[in-house]
Amino acid sequence: MALSRLENLYRHVILDHSSNPRNFGSLEDANGMLELNNPTCGDVIQLYLRLEGDRIEAAKFSGHGCSISTASASMMTEQVIGKTVPEAREMIEEFLLLVQGKLAKEENHLGDAEILSGVAKFPARIKCATLSWKALERILLEQKEETNE
Ligand code: FES
Repeated sequence: MALSRLENLYRHVILDHSSNPRNFGSLEDANGMLELNNPTCGDVIQLYLRLEGDRIEAAKFSGHGCSISTASASMMTEQVIGKTVPEAREMIEEFLLLVQGKLAKEENHLGDAEILSGVAKFPARIKCATLSWKALERILLEQKEETNE
């Protein structure tokens, strides 16, 4: 009974993020941007970041996707704004493990995004949940390569 109430709460939070996504739109002064699509359905996301030094000052996303991908992008942008790049990388790692049911530590840095752990039971939806996180991973990787050049 308690579990079903919890599942209902999770469903409510996911629906809230998908129907009223946070940080939706483009970012005029972005200095990192990437468009990524989910090859299994063709849905696409554009992720915009403004990095100042080692910190993510702003993050926004646009595009179209299912409720899971939209909710995940909304939660992800909320969680990474204000974080340092190493902190964001740690969150990406945790999230990718979480949706595969492999996150061993109970304490993590994912905030609301932890709610998407249920996706692990639906392998076909994992790509939906990870789309925005993979976009974030790639932007941070490109930034790292640029600063190493
Ligand atoms: Fe396309 Fe989920 S069905 S991103």
